[in-house]
Amino acid sequence: MTRPQVEPWVPADDRGLAYGDGLFETILVRDGEPLLWPQHMARLGRGCQRLGIPMPAAAELDGLPAQAGPGLKVLKLILTRGSGGRGYFAPPIAKPRLLWQAFDFAPQPQHWESGVRVRHCRLQLSIQPLLAGLKHLNRLENVLARSEWDDPDVAEGVLCDTQGHLVEATCMNLFWQRRGCLETPRLDGSGVAGTLRAVLMERLEINEVTMGPEVLAEAEAVWLGNSVQGLWPVVRLDDADGSRQLNWTLGPVHRTLQGKAHELLGYPATFAR
Ligand SMILES: Cc1ncc(COP(=O)(O)O)c(C=O)c1O
Repeated sequence: MTRPQVEPWVPADDRGLAYGDGLFETILVRDGEPLLWPQHMARLGRGCQRLGIPMPAAAELDGLPAQAGPGLKVLKLILTRGSGGRGYFAPPIAKPRLLWQAFDFAPQPQHWESGVRVRHCRLQLSIQPLLAGLKHLNRLENVLARSEWDDPDVAEGVLCDTQGHLVEATCMNLFWQRRGCLETPRLDGSGVAGTLRAVLMERLEINEVTMGPEVLAEAEAVWLGNSVQGLWPVVRLDDADGSRQLNWTLGPVHRTLQGKAHELLGYPATFAR
C-alpha cells in the first residue's frame, strides 16, 4: 500500500531529479514505530550538513512513521535541495523538497535462516571522501552493480573501490569475523555508513579495516546487513563470473552477531538448526 506523500509530485526542475542533489533514508517501521530512528535522522543530518541542505524540522519528520499505518512497513524519505539555481550552481537559499512513501514489507526469513549466496561485482566504487558514508541520491554505481547478475539464487553483490579495497554490498554493509575479531570495511572513501552498522559498532567491538577481498578467505564467518533486511549470513561467495570461490558452514558464530542485529530490529534472534 502506498500512502500520500508530503509533496505529491516532483517538478522537472527538482535538483534531486536533475542532479541527484539530495538524500534519502529507508526506514523499517513496525505498527507506526520506526526502528533505529535516531541513527537514520543522524545520517540525514550529516548529509544535510555536508551538502548544505537545510534539515527539515524534527516536528515535520517525527510524525511520518506513524502515518505509515499498521503492520510492517518501509518508510522511504527523500529530501532534495528543491528547485532552482542555475545549472549545477545551487540557489543560495535552498527550499528543500521532502517526499515520503510507505510500503508494505515482508523480510526474507530463508536468508536469515539458511544464509545467502553472493558474488563479487566487476564495478568498482569511486572514491570520494566528501560523499563517503552518506545516503545521497546519486546511486548509479549501485544500479550498475546490481545489473551485473539476474540469477535469483544470488542475493547480493560485493563491491570494492577503485583501489581494490572491500567496501560493502549493493545495498548492505559487510561484516566478517577473522581470528575471533569482528571487522567491517572502513567507509572513508566510498559506501553508505549503515544505521545498523552504526549501532552494532556502538555496542560491539568491530574493527574498521582497509583490506582487499582476499581477507575473506581468512574469515570464519561473513554477513551482510542493513536496517530493513536484518543480517544475512553468507554461505557462498562467487567470483564475478559466477564460479564458486569460497563457502562457509553456518554455525553458532553466525547466530551471535545475527541475534544482536535482530534484537535491534525486532526480528527473530535465534533459529532452530
Ligand atoms: C549501498 C548501501 N549500503 C549500506 C546500506 C545499509 O544502510 P542501513 O543499515 O542504514 O539500512 C544501504 C541501505 O540501503 C545501502 O543502500
